[in-house]
Amino acid sequence: MANMAKNTDFSFTAIEWEEDHLRIIDQTFLPSREIYTNLNNAGQVWEAIKHLKVRGAPAIGIAAAYGLYMGAREIPDSTFESFYLEVERLNEYIATSRPTAVNLQWALDRIMTTLQAHKDKEVSELKEIMLDTAKTIHQEDQRLCKLIGENGLEVISNNASILTHCNTGGLATARFGTAFSVIWHAHDSKKLKQVWVDETRPLLQGARLTSWELKKEEIPFKLITDSTAGFLMQQGLVDIVVVGADRITANGDTANKIGTYSLAVLADAHDIPFYVAAPYSTIDLALEDGSEIPVEERNSEEITKIGNKEIAPPKTKVYNPAFDITPNRLITGFITDKGIIKPDYKKNLQKIVEETSVEV
Ligand code: MRU
Repeated sequence: MANMAKNTDFSFTAIEWEEDHLRIIDQTFLPSREIYTNLNNAGQVWEAIKHLKVRGAPAIGIAAAYGLYMGAREIPDSTFESFYLEVERLNEYIATSRPTAVNLQWALDRIMTTLQAHKDKEVSELKEIMLDTAKTIHQEDQRLCKLIGENGLEVISNNASILTHCNTGGLATARFGTAFSVIWHAHDSKKLKQVWVDETRPLLQGARLTSWELKKEEIPFKLITDSTAGFLMQQGLVDIVVVGADRITANGDTANKIGTYSLAVLADAHDIPFYVAAPYSTIDLALEDGSEIPVEERNSEEITKIGNKEIAPPKTKVYNPAFDITPNRLITGFITDKGIIKPDYKKNLQKIVEETSVEV
């Protein structure tokens, strides 16, 4: 049967809780070396997020949740009030690691809400509850990502060529990914012709990470420079663009890896559907629109160097925003764990967040 799913499974796990520590693939070594590293305390989690050893919105939320627990387990048992105050400080510290992806603050806040809900318990018990909540966030993301992939099939035509940007796969989430999950499920259902992978300057998440994942999953793809996308679209070689998100505001404006906005403009000019795939945890109803999203600026060497090689004259001035904002009017729809969301975004995004029951 043409569209029969193979029902295989995703082939790797990039982030795992092992007894008393977090084990991650250090993404900075990929694709040349597959190195796993253990994170044993909040400081190591902060450093791993800051330096992109673990990256991608849902994955940094998961890491932050375990980081908060590992910081809290070192606080001596005392009253709820003094424990909570210390955990709040840790929360603020971990949140400074990266500003744009809301999943990070969302995961930390979820643990704080859980603590408040159990304030009558002993501090030793609260620490266990924090670990359980981190595990719940982790497991929940696996489930949400699978649903995103399955729901995305609705917007993928047969024999589709999908263009994607950055890395949104198993490295960036608990499993399967967001946009990557849609690609994975399209391939599994025999709907996919091939994937066009933007290299994603300056840190090459597309070339280094998405290509590595697609190879592992045996999904057909071609790597392109970011500036090739328009030429491909002009030739009719792209059926749909599917990307991930770091933060979606109440009106549907979306922060994602730098270059996403340019792709959305190009897709609009060529009448190609442009979809954003994300779990409910990436939706930030507290922000009205994209102008309120904090956009991370990273250091100039990410642009002036490739590896250890200088590619610009010494002291070249650089502007290096890590993300851009795609306005809602350029987004055909959102592929979420709750299905495909179409305009009116303000109403429909709010509805799916409100419909989601969060365990505390
Ligand atoms: O700077 P990064 O590599 O963390 O940026 C990641 C992205 O922009 C992803 O597209 C986004 O987090 C969605 S991942 C499922």
